[in-house]
Amino acid sequence: MRILVTSALPYANGDIHLGHLAGAYLPADIYVRYQRLKRRDVLYICGTDEHGVPVTISAEKKGKTPREIVDQYYKSINESFKDFGMTFDNFSRTSLPIHHRLAQDFFSRIHKKGFIYPKDIEQFYCTQCKRFLPDRYVVGKCPKCGNDGARGDQCETCGHWLEPFELIEPRCQICDSVPQKTQTRHWYFKLSEFQNKLAEWIASKKDWKETVLTFVQGWLREGLQDRPITRDLEWGVPVPLEEAKGKVLYVWFDAPIGYISSTMEMSQKQGKPDLWKDYWLDQNTKLVHFIGKDNIVFHALIWPAMLMAYGDYVLPADIPANQFLNLEGGKFSTSKNYAIWLPDFLKEFKADSLRYALTRNAPEARDTDFTWRDFQVWHNNELADILGNFVNRTLTFVKKYYGSSVPEASSFGERDNRIFDLLKRAPEKIGTRIEHFEFKNGLQEVMRIAQEGNRYFDHEEPWATRKKDEAACARTINVCMRIVTALSAMIDPFLPYTSRRIKDMIQFEPEGWDGIAGVQYARSIGETSILFEKIGDDAIRLQSDKLKKEMIDLDYFSKISLKSAKVMTAERVEGSKNLVKCQVEVGDEKKQIVAGIGKDYEPSDLVGKIIVIVDNLQPAKIRGVLSEGMLLAAVDEKGTVVITTDKVVNSGTQIR
Ligand code: MF3
Ligand code: ZN
Repeated sequence: MRILVTSALPYANGDIHLGHLAGAYLPADIYVRYQRLKRRDVLYICGTDEHGVPVTISAEKKGKTPREIVDQYYKSINESFKDFGMTFDNFSRTSLPIHHRLAQDFFSRIHKKGFIYPKDIEQFYCTQCKRFLPDRYVVGKCPKCGNDGARGDQCETCGHWLEPFELIEPRCQICDSVPQKTQTRHWYFKLSEFQNKLAEWIASKKDWKETVLTFVQGWLREGLQDRPITRDLEWGVPVPLEEAKGKVLYVWFDAPIGYISSTMEMSQKQGKPDLWKDYWLDQNTKLVHFIGKDNIVFHALIWPAMLMAYGDYVLPADIPANQFLNLEGGKFSTSKNYAIWLPDFLKEFKADSLRYALTRNAPEARDTDFTWRDFQVWHNNELADILGNFVNRTLTFVKKYYGSSVPEASSFGERDNRIFDLLKRAPEKIGTRIEHFEFKNGLQEVMRIAQEGNRYFDHEEPWATRKKDEAACARTINVCMRIVTALSAMIDPFLPYTSRRIKDMIQFEPEGWDGIAGVQYARSIGETSILFEKIGDDAIRLQSDKLKKEMIDLDYFSKISLKSAKVMTAERVEGSKNLVKCQVEVGDEKKQIVAGIGKDYEPSDLVGKIIVIVDNLQPAKIRGVLSEGMLLAAVDEKGTVVITTDKVVNSGTQIR
């Protein structure tokens, strides 16, 4: 049987953060490393997702072209994945010609088979920006939860998937103006036709994760709707139809096809251009998609329907989606820069320390939280004090008292046999966990062996028997070296760098997975060193401070000139619901201020109020209207409240 493993293609619009790793990447790498040790025929495929609105918006915000953005992040994502120990067989990019060709072939064939049809629809158009506003280009209030920052494709707060028209008070993400509905033509995928086939297929997936099945069944119950799979954008895979000139494929249509095109690219690189067929065209291939929970609908319904429509290719065998990892109680956010970025992390700490923490705390069944404090505690008290300590004390003993060669032993007692038994059963026990995507439990089993090793060492007291019972001492150390050898092999999928270091120190290479039951073991040791140096409080404080708000001093604050101002006149900015233009008096100066308070205030109610403004703000044009300052207001999800003074003060009074 062949196993084909994928991890969700990350958008090439930013670096990888810990939330990504815990969701779709680290578990897949553990799984694949294990399968390789089992000598199974396994491929691990990934690459960057380089199209779509996430990429074009990032580019616009940074004043770069989409091409520049994807080149930059392909490179840094690829490098930091390598440093983290990810072992993809291929890491491709969806902007490559091989991918464009395949995505177009997919569209054409499904179109020819009648599963794609055109439809004239209305779509948001921004007259200010002179462009259509697909997906995340529109923002507004979520119709489900009311959160005012929902994007045109999904509300990140409640997770609800939506269409741009459903947004309450929609705005252009780029210029904030109110978009107009305009006619355009798009091509739809007949997802509704696959309702029954998908329901039947899902019904056969009894052993899938419950969180995944529940989610999918919810969608099926609501009834699947046809979905537009083209967009009015310049960046992406061109729609292969003459009449669709200037349009591109929707990113979620082309991206999963990247799993196939990446496998094709790998085959070409290896000089075996047909190799990919052995995997994708063989119905016995076990196709496993590792993803985060936000990608479930695409992988468990839409993508399988696309594969069914196309024909020939194998369908996913399992989709072990993870829940989310949070960060110190908050959500990871690329746009708010609230995250721990992988390249930054690896500058300070070792990859295996992170692999340990993320697996120990994996969001397998529910969301979990990453805290720096946990990271430190687990590193110091578990990696260093349990695993590191056991390996270290054993190797030190061999070096110091046996001249670096492992003592032989022939007769064993009950306690030794219990250890052998533990070792003998471990590979299967851990393997079963891994095969069921229970990586947290698998790692715990490995750590339990190190723990048992320490208990055994303590109980046998080799430091004492060395002087009074040489045979007992030799036996103890011999058994401990078998444990160390087994650990070096069993920790391999989880902590590959640590595994490598132990193997180097014991000058022994355990073979495969099953034959590591404590029978073969190292006979001599080489250079040794501490496996895990403790992480100090200072290093951790430095990191957690980075996540907190930036502190400023008085000097910094005094640069901001706050003054009282009296509102003389106020009116709405033409064509905007929210913007209000005020003429204010600041001492004997007059100023014009534009503020986004129109939803909560009638302009005439503001006249006469004494408000607080930032007086020395660089003048700027908002929607083409000059604003020479900023008024202060309290803003939350309930609305905006303008700050006024407690008693009447003269306008132009300095506020400190
Ligand atoms: N880029 C998407 C995300 O980060 C995942 C794409 S997965 C694929 O959410 F299947 F479409 F490739
Ligand atoms: Zn606009």
